[in-house]
Amino acid sequence: MSILIKSGTVITAAEKYTGDVLVEGEKITKIGVALTDRADETIDARGLLVIPGGIDVHTHLDMPFGGTQSADDFETGHVAALHGGTTTHIDFCLQGKGQSLAQALDGWHAKAEGKATMDYGFHLAITDLTEAVQREIPSVIARGVTSLKLFMAYKGVLQVDDTTLFKVLSTTAESGQLVMVHAENGDAIDVLQKRARAASHKSPKWHAYTRPPELEGEATGRAIRLATVAGAPLFVVHLTCEDALLQVKAAREKGLPAFAETCTQYLFFTHEDLARPGFEGAKFVMSPPLRTVRDQEVLWGALARNDLQSISTDHCPFNYAGQKDLGKDDFTKIPNGCPGIEDRMMMVWDAGVRGGRLTDTRFVEITATNPAKIFGLYPRKGTIAVGSDADIVLWDPKAERTLSAKTHHMRVDYNLYEGRTVVGAPKLVMLRGEVKVRDNRFVGAKNKGAFLAREIVRLDKAGVV
Ligand code: URP
Ligand code: ZN
Ligand code: ZN
Repeated sequence: MSILIKSGTVITAAEKYTGDVLVEGEKITKIGVALTDRADETIDARGLLVIPGGIDVHTHLDMPFGGTQSADDFETGHVAALHGGTTTHIDFCLQGKGQSLAQALDGWHAKAEGKATMDYGFHLAITDLTEAVQREIPSVIARGVTSLKLFMAYKGVLQVDDTTLFKVLSTTAESGQLVMVHAENGDAIDVLQKRARAASHKSPKWHAYTRPPELEGEATGRAIRLATVAGAPLFVVHLTCEDALLQVKAAREKGLPAFAETCTQYLFFTHEDLARPGFEGAKFVMSPPLRTVRDQEVLWGALARNDLQSISTDHCPFNYAGQKDLGKDDFTKIPNGCPGIEDRMMMVWDAGVRGGRLTDTRFVEITATNPAKIFGLYPRKGTIAVGSDADIVLWDPKAERTLSAKTHHMRVDYNLYEGRTVVGAPKLVMLRGEVKVRDNRFVGAKNKGAFLAREIVRLDKAGVV
């Protein structure tokens, strides 16, 4: 199958030009002006932008958490992501207590088997570091897993201590894998939560009150210092606030290999959303919690200036009815997480590019190119170039779409951005040369997503991102 995309505006992280793109099989094979190649389908892309498919490097599909299971699996989550212009994601494979890393990976592969509809990779979240597991860390590279994750919060569940964090960083300083951290001080949060419960504070807003930004800043700085001593690069996930950003910025200014993302929701909501009437605030319970309007502006500025390198979703959906309500009488029991895998590209385009905060090339860089570069997928993914996978989105900058649980494709009963009309949406979404979505309708084959075995990227070398 071949497709010739004619006269679109091609946008990469580096440039923007009017051109034609030829797709043959799964790859981009030619880029030029006024190409005359015969193709099975020719698409007139005048007025459309030709951008690389979005890459979301922070998702939790079909994951056990908070006494329940995240609501999207590898089929429903993938179909939803494709509708929003995301063609690749990297999911967090959780090591269960007592499991080897190999067993954890087998379990996550089984979740994706026969369901995956877009391309995907895995980060491995270590929750139980025995000596055997520490020895096993380099071996997962051969299985295409080049990034690990450690939780510095969720005490008694996923949290690891500094000994574990430092041991893993010391191992990856040699192996070259990238350690990612959920940076919040889980011990202090635990004390604050117990105090709040003892005082009979039950409502969702207490989720934010018991996770102040200082505890994210402290953990971020601690992780960076431990990584520095170990001699390993570090990636901070879902950074939410100025306090934490200053830690990453200071490290980067010293030339240290520290990287960070934020997530869409932190740009649009604040802790006040947790105080919505009734139990509505539970929809906005995620960790770290939503912050302030000032933090939102700081995050937008950091995305524009490369103080933050990428934007993900932390897609971890739980239904309002039947899952979020596990915490009706105790805010600590509300499953942490929110949906967004379908909405990211549209929300960031609308408020970022249309809103004058980001250039269109920077939009491509933070939603696709940098994630691909940092996580070992570039240039196969994350750009429009000859030889790259034909993961292409024809983006209509004039299309209007109203985001709603009534029309979205995520398997969850609410949409964070309910009722918001955005301008700018995918007209066509292609994965490895196959059209998956046209005019917001799924038209491709399901269950043909590929696992992406990733390569080690030496992030200690200057200039990667
Ligand atoms: O609240 C969140 N973020 N849930 C998903 C797990 C995590 O911490 O990333
Ligand atoms: Zn987290
Ligand atoms: Zn997460």
